Amino acid sequence: MKSQKIRETFLQFFNSKNHAIVPSAPMVIKNDPTLMFTNAGMNQFKEFFLGNGTPKNNRVTDTQKCLRVSGKHNDLEEVGKDTYHHTMFEMLGNWSFGDYFKTEAIDWAWELLTEVYKVDKSKLYVTIFEGDSSEKLERDTEAFDLWKKHLPENRILNGNKKDNFWEMGDQGPCGPCSEIHVDLRSEAEKAEIPGAQLVNADHPQVVEIWNLVFVQYNRKADGSLENLPAKHVDTGMGFERLCMLLQDKKSNYDTDVFTPIIREIETITNTKYGQNKDQDIAIRVIADHVRAVAFSIADGQLPSNTGAGYVIRRILRRAIRYGFTFLSIKEPFIYKLVQVLSDEMGQAFPELKKQQNLIYNVIREEEQSFLRTLDQGLVLLDTIIAEAEDKEVSGGKAFELYDTYGFPIDLTALILSERGYALDEQGFQTELQKQKERSRAATKVETGDWIYVSLNEESFVGYDTLESPTRITRYRQVTSKKLGEHYQLVFSITPFYPEGGGQVGDKGYLEADNGDVIYITDTKKENNLIVHFTENLPKDVEGTFKAVVDAKQRKRSASNHSATHLLHQALRAILGKHVEQKGSMVHSGYLRFDFSHFAKLTQEEIVAVEHFVNARIQEQLALEEQRAIPYEQALGEGAIALFGEKYGDAVRTIRFGKSMELCGGTHVNNTADIWHFKITSESAVASGIRRIEAITGDAVMHYFAEQDMQLAQISALLNNAQEPVKAINNLQEENNALKKQMESLLQEKSGNLKKELLTKIESKTDASGIKINFLAQEIDLDANGMKDLAYQIGNEVENLFVLLASRYEGKALLSCYIDKDLAKAKNLNAGSIVRELGKYIQGGGGGQPFFATAGGKNPDGIPQVLQEVETYVS
Ligand code: ALA
Repeated sequence: MKSQKIRETFLQFFNSKNHAIVPSAPMVIKNDPTLMFTNAGMNQFKEFFLGNGTPKNNRVTDTQKCLRVSGKHNDLEEVGKDTYHHTMFEMLGNWSFGDYFKTEAIDWAWELLTEVYKVDKSKLYVTIFEGDSSEKLERDTEAFDLWKKHLPENRILNGNKKDNFWEMGDQGPCGPCSEIHVDLRSEAEKAEIPGAQLVNADHPQVVEIWNLVFVQYNRKADGSLENLPAKHVDTGMGFERLCMLLQDKKSNYDTDVFTPIIREIETITNTKYGQNKDQDIAIRVIADHVRAVAFSIADGQLPSNTGAGYVIRRILRRAIRYGFTFLSIKEPFIYKLVQVLSDEMGQAFPELKKQQNLIYNVIREEEQSFLRTLDQGLVLLDTIIAEAEDKEVSGGKAFELYDTYGFPIDLTALILSERGYALDEQGFQTELQKQKERSRAATKVETGDWIYVSLNEESFVGYDTLESPTRITRYRQVTSKKLGEHYQLVFSITPFYPEGGGQVGDKGYLEADNGDVIYITDTKKENNLIVHFTENLPKDVEGTFKAVVDAKQRKRSASNHSATHLLHQALRAILGKHVEQKGSMVHSGYLRFDFSHFAKLTQEEIVAVEHFVNARIQEQLALEEQRAIPYEQALGEGAIALFGEKYGDAVRTIRFGKSMELCGGTHVNNTADIWHFKITSESAVASGIRRIEAITGDAVMHYFAEQDMQLAQISALLNNAQEPVKAINNLQEENNALKKQMESLLQEKSGNLKKELLTKIESKTDASGIKINFLAQEIDLDANGMKDLAYQIGNEVENLFVLLASRYEGKALLSCYIDKDLAKAKNLNAGSIVRELGKYIQGGGGGQPFFATAGGKNPDGIPQVLQEVETYVS
């Protein structure tokens, strides 16, 4: 059965059991502080398990794009080394939200596998939770009895808490689970060791394929468990492993999910899969990682230096580095796999096809820049090796290379061992650990449990009003490095807009009936709850309050948000329909908009975009809002939806004239309220992605006033020139002419200096007859001047050893040049010499064996430096 069919069969089977088929949620998660990537099918349904929302269907099924590379479930280092772990994989799942429980979950899983997919029952084992006394949890005998209907008792194994109690994270919904494992080994192998012994033992051919979780508890902040109000089912089957089973393969990479990509890698890199262990690992790493990276980019997450973007960058770099070392590919090539990936998976995941060009360009650019980093890293590593003592490179140096230059540690280790050097791995691990602890401490958040105050419904009224009477329904204490100790409150009715769709959360205050006021510093959404941040709790949390949004800030955010829609429309009208939103940030102070476009905007285009937006502002277009219309209808009416966003069945649309978008943000009532739109910068974010920053309303007024003032100051500086541009041109020309004059004077000076210095060179000969031409002198030049001069003299005089010193801007500078042959013959190292001499000028330095420099803050030490070097050479 082809993989497409396998996926389809799963969905249809559960559909026939009254499950609604829903699309995969984006793999990259936005607006959830606890999770960067979807790591299980159930993530998108978290709010239903927590009881914060009501699902439209209480039975659903889907295939979910998952990524397990960070946090609690992390498989990254395994990937490629074995044949059944992945970074990105598809998880097929079926869910019951307070509907059916263990009986149906188990019976249907068995029916699908053995009757529909016709898996040979003798290949299957199942596990059940054995209980855990420390948690006071009983063995799951209910599941055991249910499985007994289907398979003999000796194929139903007990599993411990690690394998058979599934938890999404440190807190939240969880419960015992029952896993289905398959034994793919040959009969001979099975006769030797029974499969039951290999379940959960990391055997590549005895693997878990499906996990049925019976969600019935909530893990609280103090680690204890409480019963959830309703019981749920959450299942997850590894699609790639299922394909391995049904296609009778021994490795996920031999299924048709991967073979087309692997064939392409073989062609591009001129290798053959299955011939050499290291090359095979590299090919699997690349085949796996290109999927993870491509799907992330399609979801709107570009590689970057922070957060989710950094994780993606590291995955791609891991692939590049495997190609570089084991397939000897020193040029970008992974981007060439995007085509086949899109051909193979574009039907099930149309976002790949739609975004193919962008994915291709971004990956190519990342490859180019990382290959450059590798080149630079190799040069740096050479220097480190040259300076290494006792043939060992310190953990600190290797860590610097890794941390500052992104040079992979395993590559450092490999190169060192090839050259016969040792790496202090312990020292590296210590540095790495220290850094991890630093970043963990910086992001550590301790979240207390919710304390329930009243059981009111929780509703949002912020589209219509900025003020409303309210009560606190629940609150909790949270401690984070960034905000310190603070509280999070949920209101029965709230006018506060929670951060989302790029727009920042509202600020404001909560006023108690007795006049007490506490400030709300931010508002965010978490699992469908609107959470208000505050430093203090009100004295009487059970009282009634007035919740008031800061109207001025909100007005500015609304103005910037509406302007963002008009900007999006303008870009599509002026640059073309290929423009797609790739990121948006709406503050009260300014807006930032990232979009796909292949070239820098010209000044004319920028002006045209500003004109377009300002024309819509002048047209005074009224806001036309639809609060809850069906998603398909909204698209039919021409609303723009974004890739990588999760939309419900009912959506909100925002229209100003011909601009219409799906949007949950707050907006002005009329475009005239924006007053004016001004672009303040245009730049590149990545290959094929541009960024515009702009301002509206009173910020534009301040901007123009500031510009006016600057212009006035410029004119004043130019002696009130009537035409400041012309006056600046004149100044520049004059400046260029002066620079040229200065250069020729400097050249003359250094020529004279050189002549003088040549006469001061002393010749010395050592006992073995090696001649040294020696010069130590203080001169009056900057660092570059000294270097030039030293090299010039070195070109004329053989066996030269020069130490030049100068006082420059209150500091001392040293340059040491040693002729290469001389350095070799006498085993001299300019780097070590300047480092030693640096002591006398209270500084340090370094460099290569034949040229090095030092700087220090004590110029008065220069005479001693000259004396020391003289003594040393003598
Ligand atoms: N949520 C369960 C898992 O990821 C099904 O294994």
